[in-house]
Amino acid sequence: MKFTDEIKRRRTFAIVSHPDAGKTTLTEKLLLFGGAIRVAGAVKNNKIKKGTTSDFMEIERQRGISVATSVMGFDYSGYKINILDTPGHQDFQEDTFRTLTAVDSVVIVIDAAKGVEPQTERLMKVCRMRKTPVIVFVNKMDRPAQDTFSLMDEIEEQLKIKVRPLSWPINSGADFKGVYNIFNKSLQLFAPNIQEIGTKIQFDDILNPRLENYIGGDAKILREELELIEGVYPEFEVAAYLEGDLAPIFFGSALYNFGVRELLDSFAEIAPVPQPIQSEERIIQPGEDTFSGFVFKIHANIDPNHRSRIAFIKVCSGCFKRNKAYLHVRSGKTIRISRPTAFMASQKEVVEEAFPGDIIGVPDTGNFIIGDTLTEGEPIHFKGLPSFSPELFRYVENADPMKSKQLAKGIDQLMDEGVAQLFTSQFNGRKIIGTVGQLQFEVIQYRLEHEYGAKCRLEPLQMYKACWIKCDDPSALTEFKKRKYQKMAKDKLGRDVFMADSSFILQMAQDEFKNIQFHFTSEF
Ligand code: G4P
Repeated sequence: MKFTDEIKRRRTFAIVSHPDAGKTTLTEKLLLFGGAIRVAGAVKNNKIKKGTTSDFMEIERQRGISVATSVMGFDYSGYKINILDTPGHQDFQEDTFRTLTAVDSVVIVIDAAKGVEPQTERLMKVCRMRKTPVIVFVNKMDRPAQDTFSLMDEIEEQLKIKVRPLSWPINSGADFKGVYNIFNKSLQLFAPNIQEIGTKIQFDDILNPRLENYIGGDAKILREELELIEGVYPEFEVAAYLEGDLAPIFFGSALYNFGVRELLDSFAEIAPVPQPIQSEERIIQPGEDTFSGFVFKIHANIDPNHRSRIAFIKVCSGCFKRNKAYLHVRSGKTIRISRPTAFMASQKEVVEEAFPGDIIGVPDTGNFIIGDTLTEGEPIHFKGLPSFSPELFRYVENADPMKSKQLAKGIDQLMDEGVAQLFTSQFNGRKIIGTVGQLQFEVIQYRLEHEYGAKCRLEPLQMYKACWIKCDDPSALTEFKKRKYQKMAKDKLGRDVFMADSSFILQMAQDEFKNIQFHFTSEF
């Protein structure tokens, strides 16, 4: 196949949701369609969730939370679909944000009864920032749902995006009869508790009285609602979707495998092909001859006996080849990757080549950090992997003096993986770990102990935000640092950070030092 055709057939996306909306279930069903897994559908399937398909680490199995972001690829109708899984738990949202830098589009799963939930809003904010095209899948229609029109309004208002239903549900809960697919003009009938895909009936003209034969008195309501939709919502324009201005909406029930194939079919048709990526130096086009890629995720090894890690590299341009010499831009060293793996659902396999849109896993013994770039020689730096100011802070203290080296190494590597952020106080030299959630502290302690044999104490620290500071006037910056020396720290890359104890203190500092810029992300 030609290189350009390989690019065109790729669809790389993430499924995101508020926990429990059905992201895992939907992912599993998509994998079933792709033939990537063979576990029969409709029943609750803990085997996969608690097994090894989408979560690697012991700690996940213990907690039942998908901590990891993993990648699953499969072929479907001539397309190569790459799904990037994201952790549902909000304490790991930074992981999710990073994953969003490696995808070309997003499917947002919403619980039909609960509507838009806080985490959906946060994730959408990131999509809007990056202008990532999104498709919304309203899930759990087999359960009593909110009124569909109100739900549309809620999505539009809270996610701040124009919407366009491409399918429309006929009732919900016990009365759920199925959906009318506006996109391909067909009626999809729902049959609860079976593992088959619902019957699809072509219905180009919904005025056809045959509709009554299938859905009885609901046909009248459906016609009225569809008429209303045509009046209220703009025509669906693929271009508006691709610009990130319009979100098509589908309805279904992932648990019952309903509406999933339609979603996948429409997705494959309209979702963006691998997109150009803005680097600091220039825009990188996927179709360029030379390879480039960046590390968006580092994952601890599945096998606790081996401490090596996997760096996930997104191929941005050109064709990646196994064993070819590439420039590791940050270190200036040349590296060859002898065992690049692709993730085909439950299996990892060594690949000879990979194309833009693909994700490869590279065994790593500590050479990579998040944001690293590989090229064929050009010094490119990819943008868009900022650290966000953490919300919780703890001092780290060594709990076993014999193991201080292990502790230092463990902390270093965990920070490179992006598990949390490390700051060093300029006042007393103490190490401070910042996270967005309590759970990350537990993960850090657990992993330090189990992977590095190091124990630490995490001591409470009342802190509001870490602010990266900048000032064009060097003497003003020096003055600020001198005045605030007790609150100054360095991040892992040596950048100046002001640690504000409270919003009040921050406000005071902002009022007093007008020419200092305070940033809540590390890139600005
Ligand atoms: P998440 O990854 O977004 O956190 O959600 P997940 O797929 O784990 O789904 C959360 C719960 O909702 C699961 O039930 C799942 O079976 C259920 N669910 C998902 N899709 C549907 C649907 O379309 N209809 C209905 N009725 N339920 C759905 P659970 O009992 O909490 O978990 P489990 O024991 O099945 O894993």
